[in-house]
Amino acid sequence: MTDGTSDADESRPEDARPDGGTGARGADDVALDPWGSSTVSDYRKLFDQFGIERFEEVLDEVPDPHYLMRRGVIFGHREYREVARAMREGDPFAALSGFMPTGDPHIGHKLVFDEIIWHQQQGGDAYGLIADLEAHSARGLSWAEIDEHTRNYVLSLLALGFDPEEGELYRQSTNREVQDLAFELGIEANFSELQAIYDFDGETDVSHMQSVVTQTADILYPQLDEPVPTVIPVGPDQDPHMRLTRDLAQRMRFFGVREAYASFEADPAERRLLGKAFEARDEYAEDPDRPRCVEAADYLEDEREADATGAEERTIESTVTMLQEAGKEPLRPRVRVFDRRATDEAFEALIEAIDGEKRVYDNHVDAFDLSRAEAEELAREVELDHGGYGFLPPSSIYHRFMTGLTGGKMSSSVPASHISLLDDPEEGYEKVKAATTGGRETAEKQRELGGEADECPVYELYAYLLAGDDDEFAKEVYDECVGGERLCGDCKEQAARLMEEFLEDHQAKRAEWEDRLDELDIELDSPRKRG
Ligand code: TRP
Ligand code: SF4
Repeated sequence: MTDGTSDADESRPEDARPDGGTGARGADDVALDPWGSSTVSDYRKLFDQFGIERFEEVLDEVPDPHYLMRRGVIFGHREYREVARAMREGDPFAALSGFMPTGDPHIGHKLVFDEIIWHQQQGGDAYGLIADLEAHSARGLSWAEIDEHTRNYVLSLLALGFDPEEGELYRQSTNREVQDLAFELGIEANFSELQAIYDFDGETDVSHMQSVVTQTADILYPQLDEPVPTVIPVGPDQDPHMRLTRDLAQRMRFFGVREAYASFEADPAERRLLGKAFEARDEYAEDPDRPRCVEAADYLEDEREADATGAEERTIESTVTMLQEAGKEPLRPRVRVFDRRATDEAFEALIEAIDGEKRVYDNHVDAFDLSRAEAEELAREVELDHGGYGFLPPSSIYHRFMTGLTGGKMSSSVPASHISLLDDPEEGYEKVKAATTGGRETAEKQRELGGEADECPVYELYAYLLAGDDDEFAKEVYDECVGGERLCGDCKEQAARLMEEFLEDHQAKRAEWEDRLDELDIELDSPRKRG
C-alpha cells in the first residue's frame, strides 16, 4: 500500500514523532510485504537492513521542502538527492505513485496525493495511476468495484490540487505502453527472484506475478521518452518493488561503468585494495609514474595486517595473485565501460565516441581520459541513439504509517480507525472526538505531567494534516500538550472542527470535479467483462 496505513497486525509506528526522531523501542523483525503483513515497529531497521537512507540527510538539498518532509513524516529515501538536484537546477524530473482501488481513499492516501501534487508544483512531471490490475489479481476485486473506487481516488487527487492538464492519470489496465514495458522487463526477472523478494510459491497465480512486473513498468514509465530523475513516494511496504525495479532498470542498460586499475577484472573489495596500492605507489615503485603490478603485489603482501579477517585474507590473496599474473603491466586508474547487452553496432559506436586514450577488449573498453560521470553520460547517449531505454535508477521517498484513531494501526477495513475522504464531515468530527489520545487519566495529572503527544493519534492528525503548512501551529499544539497547558477535551474539539472543515472543503472540490470528469483522459469505466 502507498496509503500510509499498514494492513495487517496490530502494530504501529511507535516512534512517530514530530521531529522525525526515533524513539528506540520495538525489537521486532521488520518484514516488508506489499500485500499485507508489513508492520514497522522500528524504523531504524529499514536503514540498517534494507539500505533505505535517512531523509534528514537530504533535507537541506531540497528547495522549500514540504511540511511532511520538515516534520519527519517522510523519513527515508533512496537516491532522492538526484531529484532534489534536478529541482534546484531547473532540470526535468518526475514523480509517480499508484493506488490500488480496493476501498475509499482516506487520510493515509492523502499523504501520497499531497506528495505527488507538491512535486508537480515544484515543476515535476506528475503521474497518478490506478493499480487496477493489481487490485483485480492480488486482491480479487471485481471490475465494477474497481471502477467505483477508481472514480473516488481520481476525484480526491484532483480536489487536492493535481493538475491533469500538466500531469497524467492512468489506469494500468488501459495503458498499453506500460504493459509493453512490463513485458520487456519481465524477461529480466525470473520466478526464483520473485520468490525470494515476495515469498511467492507454487500457489501464486500468474496474474499476481504479472502485476508485479506491471508495477516495475509503472515506476519506469515516466522515463519512456527520456531518462529523467523520478521519485516514487510510497510507504515503506513498497520498498521491495523499488529494489526490484532499480535492479531491472540496471539490467536493461546496454553498458555498465566502473572504475578499474589494470586490464584484469576485480570485484569491489579487490578494487578497494588496488586503489590503496595505487595511492601508495611512491612508497614502493621504482618509477612512481609507472608502478608495476608485481610491485603492488609485493607491497600488499608486506602490508598485510596480522588481524585481518578471513574474508579480508581471501581478498588480499586473490588481489595479489592477479597482480602477480599481470607482472610488469603498469597499475593505472581508468574508467571501464563494459558491454551488458549492447548490439555490436552500439558497442562499436561507444568505442568510437570515447575521446582520448582508450584500450579495447572483447567485452569492455578502458578509457584513460574520462571521468566516471563523463563515461556514464556517454554510455547513456550511445544507448539512447541505438534504441535503448537508458533508464536512470528510480528514486523513492518513504513516509511513516499513520496510527489508527482508535490506537493500533490505521486500517482501511476498520472504519473507526481512519477517516475516509468521503466520510460525512459530521462523521469525521465524531471520529476525531472518539479518538484515543496520549492524555493522562485525569486533568490534574495532565497539568502536572503534560500529555504524551508522541503517543497521540490526535497529535498526529495535527502534524500530518490539520496544521497544514503552519509549523508554528503544529509546534504550539505539541508544546502546549507536553507542557500540560492543553487538555485533551479541548484539543480534540479543535481537531474535530478542523477535520470537519477540511472534509467540507475537500468534498466541495470533489463535487466541482465531478462535473468535469469528462475532461480527463483516464477511462473511468472499464471495458473489461464483469469478473
Ligand atoms: N502496489 C501499490 C499499492 O499497493 C500500487 C502501485 C502500483 C504503485 N504501481 C505503482 C505504487 C507504482 C507506486 C508506484 O498501493
Ligand atoms: Fe493528544 Fe491533544 Fe491530548 Fe495532547 S492534549 S494528548 S495532543 S489530544
